[in-house]
Amino acid sequence: MIDLRSDTVTKPSPGMRRVMAEADVGDDVFGEDPCVNHLQEVTARLLGKEAALYVPSGTMANQLCIKVHTQPGDEIIMERTNHPFNSESGALAALSGVQVNLIDGKRGVITAAQVAGAIRHGDDVHNPPTRLVCLENTHNRGGGNVYPVGTIREISEVARQHGLAMHLDGARLLNACVASGLPATAYTQYFDSCTLCLSKGLGAPVGSVLAGSSDFVRRAIRYRKMFGGSMRQAGIVAVAGLYALEHNVERLAEDHQHAKLLAERISSARGLRINPQEVETNIVFLQLDPTVARLDAPGLQRAMHEREVLALAVDQYSMRLVTHLDVTRAQVEQAAQIICDVLSN
Ligand SMILES: Cc1ncc(COP(=O)(O)O)c(C=O)c1O
Repeated sequence: MIDLRSDTVTKPSPGMRRVMAEADVGDDVFGEDPCVNHLQEVTARLLGKEAALYVPSGTMANQLCIKVHTQPGDEIIMERTNHPFNSESGALAALSGVQVNLIDGKRGVITAAQVAGAIRHGDDVHNPPTRLVCLENTHNRGGGNVYPVGTIREISEVARQHGLAMHLDGARLLNACVASGLPATAYTQYFDSCTLCLSKGLGAPVGSVLAGSSDFVRRAIRYRKMFGGSMRQAGIVAVAGLYALEHNVERLAEDHQHAKLLAERISSARGLRINPQEVETNIVFLQLDPTVARLDAPGLQRAMHEREVLALAVDQYSMRLVTHLDVTRAQVEQAAQIICDVLSN
């Protein structure tokens, strides 16, 4: 199988498994796991924040940050297709009791003017007070695109003027860094809190971090316990995150080249709409033109599966393909050929 459903499907490499087997561990609820502590120090430095916290998933990282930033009844601003609103199982409502003021972006990117227009003030009793602006970089549903740093700066200026906090869903932040050539801090400097997933393109089997001020992280530790996310000898997986940061960051460029190649190869397939220029990192979104294509997205997914290529239909006429560390260039070429064949027969 060539699995292009997500970059979460990667399996730990032999080198990663070796360090996991040999990890020196302790009870992380007592703060005694050396690998977790080291990972938290390394990622706090990488993200330019005072402290970081290791958590089981990107979802928990986002939800803990939002919980710390808000009170029930607050409003938060984010783009309509952002992950915490779309794909975290209603956690914003269930765990933080906040409501979301959704903005329509262009490929996930919103502007400072849109944010300014969406802010509501708690001094009018009818309004929920706006507390937080959440952005996502790279933007998953936007097509893995890199958030322009200038846009982030402008949004943060508006947020500061109105006393709002800024949160970054940085699940794939290092993909943005590798694609743009900028350090993580070029982005994170504008945010009070940010996340980073170790189990996506970086290839660790599990785990994410959140980062912020020491006080912010201290409060997040309490909620991590409440949400059931405190782990014991977690160093056995945290060390895989350290290994991933050491070995698998620069190679993200390969995934980006593979995604671009895939987009170019399928761009002339019958009934398929795709702009390879828009592929900036490891995610490829394709649209099927219902007037021309012989299959819709679930049909294409099934036909590809029969030819041993896995992908995800996002809705009736769009599909997402993701390149990662367990897919070679030859497999990407093979998958592209299969998509072209399936659509032309
Ligand atoms: C942008 C973004 N944020 C957060 C997450 C959540 O990560 P997890 O699956 O580890 O909960 C994902 C997962 O795909 C994601 O794409």
